[in-house]
Amino acid sequence: MSAPERIPPRSVTAPAAGAGPHPAELLARGELTVRGRIREASNAALFCTVVLDGRQASCVYKPVAGERPLWDFPDGTLAGREVAAYEVSEATGWGLVPPTVLRDGPYGEGMCQLWIDVHAEAELLALVDAEEPAPGWRAIGFAEVGEGRTALLVHADDERLRRLAVLDAVINNADRKGGHLLPTADGRLYGIDHGVTFNVDNKLRTLLWGWAGEPLTPEAVDVLKGLRDGLAGELGRRLAALITAAEIDATRARVDALLASGVHPEPSGEWPAIPWPPV
Ligand SMILES: Nc1ncnc2c1ncn2[C@@H]1O[C@H](COP(=O)(O)OP(=O)(O)O)[C@@H](O)[C@H]1O
Ligand SMILES: [Mg+2]
Repeated sequence: MSAPERIPPRSVTAPAAGAGPHPAELLARGELTVRGRIREASNAALFCTVVLDGRQASCVYKPVAGERPLWDFPDGTLAGREVAAYEVSEATGWGLVPPTVLRDGPYGEGMCQLWIDVHAEAELLALVDAEEPAPGWRAIGFAEVGEGRTALLVHADDERLRRLAVLDAVINNADRKGGHLLPTADGRLYGIDHGVTFNVDNKLRTLLWGWAGEPLTPEAVDVLKGLRDGLAGELGRRLAALITAAEIDATRARVDALLASGVHPEPSGEWPAIPWPPV
């Protein structure tokens, strides 16, 4: 894939007067200072601040130079796919991915994503000693918990997770773990870590199987129709700078398949459907 061209930050929501630049613009144009390295990251991930016109934000910067090659993702970059996931999320209007841009930094080109302050809320995931999920929960599957015992892995029956399940099906997320779900104090939920997405083969690996086989909500159907139109226009053009043409075609095919089936996808059986460990 050729080097991605710089994409101008979008202006989806006009910031209130005096509120300063849109977060994506702050991330794209702000002065980037590395503050530290995120230890648990599997690729180089740096905690940074960006400053623009007196406005400051924290962000994570993942330079392309720090990416480990992946045999099943030979084209493109993790950083490009992270930005592509943000673009698709923005096109849904659900705002499920923190503002994410490609930009230059002290270790070269990389992705920069707004840092989300996590506010612990009621658990989104649980392992329970039961055959069926309790009301308010959805079953993911049974898990071995040692000594031949199994427990039921469940996730919350939460409309934000349900939207994320649709987004993941569209972007073909191969790694939706619990640790990549970030709830905020104002009641929002963000998904992060979208480097292994958009593969041309079905690699959906997620915890969010609680609605598998059930009808998509009317809202999700509307959003998918919007994505179908977007992929033929503006969204498709934005993605062309980030992922391969074959990956865009496959994304279009996944959207069409979701609309044709009208249901949340089920595990394909060809690929481990649940990330392990789940957090
Ligand atoms: N935008 C963000 N806001 C808040 N925390 C983040 C953000 N991005 C990453 N993190 C934290 O950094 C950790 C490592 O980042 P992650 O995206 O999972 O990197 P990797 O691709 O190496 O797995 C995450 O598990 C999370 O705790
Ligand atoms: Mg991770």
